[in-house]
Amino acid sequence: MLVRLPGVYPPQEDTWLLAGALARETLGPHSHVLDICTGTGALSLRAAAAGAGHVTAVDISRRALATTWINARLRRHPVRVMRGNLTEPVRGQLFDVIVSNPPYVPTLDDVLPTRGVERAWDAGVDGRMLLDRICVQAPAMLMQSGVLLIAQSALSGVEKTQTILEEQGLSVEIADRAEIPFGRVLSSRATLFETRGLIDTGQRTEEIVVIRAVR
Ligand SMILES: C[S@@+](CC[C@H](N)C(=O)[O-])C[C@H]1O[C@@H](n2cnc3c(N)ncnc32)[C@H](O)[C@@H]1O
Repeated sequence: MLVRLPGVYPPQEDTWLLAGALARETLGPHSHVLDICTGTGALSLRAAAAGAGHVTAVDISRRALATTWINARLRRHPVRVMRGNLTEPVRGQLFDVIVSNPPYVPTLDDVLPTRGVERAWDAGVDGRMLLDRICVQAPAMLMQSGVLLIAQSALSGVEKTQTILEEQGLSVEIADRAEIPFGRVLSSRATLFETRGLIDTGQRTEEIVVIRAVR
C-alpha cells in the first residue's frame, strides 16, 4: 500500500504497465535510475526494491515529493527526491535507466496547469508538451547502453516519440501496450477527441504504450 497525499496521481494502468517494463531491466547496487514525474514514487520504489542502488525521483509537485519521500522512508529505500521541471534538477548527471510516466493527455489549449491534480495529466493540445521535452532531454542523460522507458497514450502520438528518440541516436521499440477503458478525464473529453479525429465515434478506450529506447 502506498501513502498518497491529496492531489497526487494515484498509480494506475499506465504506472503498472511501465513497472512491468522496468522489472525486465537488470538493476543492481551500482545502477543509477532516474524517475521523471514520480508522483507517489511508485516506480522509484519498484526500482529500489529490484536492487537499484541509486534512485532519483523528480517531480514538480511538492505534495508528490512529500508522498514519495514518505513511501521511501516507510520501506527504508534510499530514494533521492528532487523538485523541479523534468530533468532540470539532475542536469549533467548520467543514468543507467530513466523511467517516466509524464502527463500526456491532449487538452483544449496549450496552457499547462500550474497547480492541482490536472498537472498530472494535462499536456497541451497534442498531449506532447512534456513528452517532447523528455524525448529531447533524456537521451543525453543516458549512459552508454542506458535505457529510457516512457509511458504514453496512443492519443498523443507514439510515432512522434519514436522519431524524436531515433533522431537522438537511440534504438526504439514498443515494450508493451494495453487497451484500457476511458476514465473520468478522458470520458469528459471524448467529444473533443472525436471532433479532432483522435478517436472513432463512440470509441471509449485508449491504448497505453510503453516505449523502450536504448542508447
Ligand atoms: C501521470 S503522473 C505519473 C506519476 C507516477 N510516475 C505514476 O506513474 O504513477 C505525472 C506526474 O508528473 C508530474 N509533473 C507534471 N509536470 C511536471 C514537470 N514539468 N516536471 C516534473 N514533474 C511534472 C505531476 O506532478 C505528476 O506527479
